[in-house]
Amino acid sequence: MRVAFLGPPGAGKGTQARELAHEWGVPHIATGDMLREAMAAGTPLGRAAKAYYDRGELVPDDVIIGMIEERFRQAEASRGFILDGFPRTIPQAEALDRLLKDLGLNLDRVVFFDVGEGELLRRLTGRRLCRACGTPFHLVSAPPAREGVCDRCGGELYQRADDSEATVRNRLQVYERQTAPLLDYYRSRDRLTSVDAAGDMDVIRGRIRRTVEAAR
Ligand code: AP5
Repeated sequence: MRVAFLGPPGAGKGTQARELAHEWGVPHIATGDMLREAMAAGTPLGRAAKAYYDRGELVPDDVIIGMIEERFRQAEASRGFILDGFPRTIPQAEALDRLLKDLGLNLDRVVFFDVGEGELLRRLTGRRLCRACGTPFHLVSAPPAREGVCDRCGGELYQRADDSEATVRNRLQVYERQTAPLLDYYRSRDRLTSVDAAGDMDVIRGRIRRTVEAAR
């Protein structure tokens, strides 16, 4: 299972990748999570990324590509993976093609999460995350059993700094400008499947499961 999840901020990529990676027994490789860990640890990479991240801009390609190359060296890529939030630009997609070719591997499928803008805004501004295990919640559609506390591990829930309405609007524009062109990139290579990502989370997961398993 070698899959990339593509879609605008708040489309549900992280929510679904987390569950499906567990189900399929493959690593969930999320560049956003990797950057947040690096920023929290105050590493040179985290410090280099912070200003871009806080504005909702993309971190430069060379930084992200270096980080992914390093991650692929650690993970057994031949066993499979779910990429979440990478690639996000044409140069990143080209770098991924080169990396996989060097490893003698293919990308089985790119799944596009199709959700309207109003719903994206609603999802992002209501999102809360567990500081300890990263599990996403939503104040309305996926609330925790106890306010402010993670159901899974008891950790504290927090709101991401880039989930304020102003930064979310910028992230949506950045997505249209820099990431949406990847739809044509993968469509022309016959790799893309679009999934209706609005509605019940379990139903959406079933749609993704079917499309990915059919592509193997
Ligand atoms: P990143 O962390 O990757 O953020 P993103 O792509 O903007 O995506 P999100 O995590 O916001 O959304 P998601 O699709 O995962 O949705 P989620 O499942 O959480 O990137 C952050 C920043 O890092 C970027 O702005 C950039 O600066 C940098 N960066 C990262 N990767 C980079 C790269 N490759 N190149 C350059 N820079 C990079 O769901 C959202 C909410 O909705 C949750 O509350 C969830 O509970 C809820 N929800 C999910 N599904 C449903 C549903 N079906 N119905 C109702 N609610 C739902």
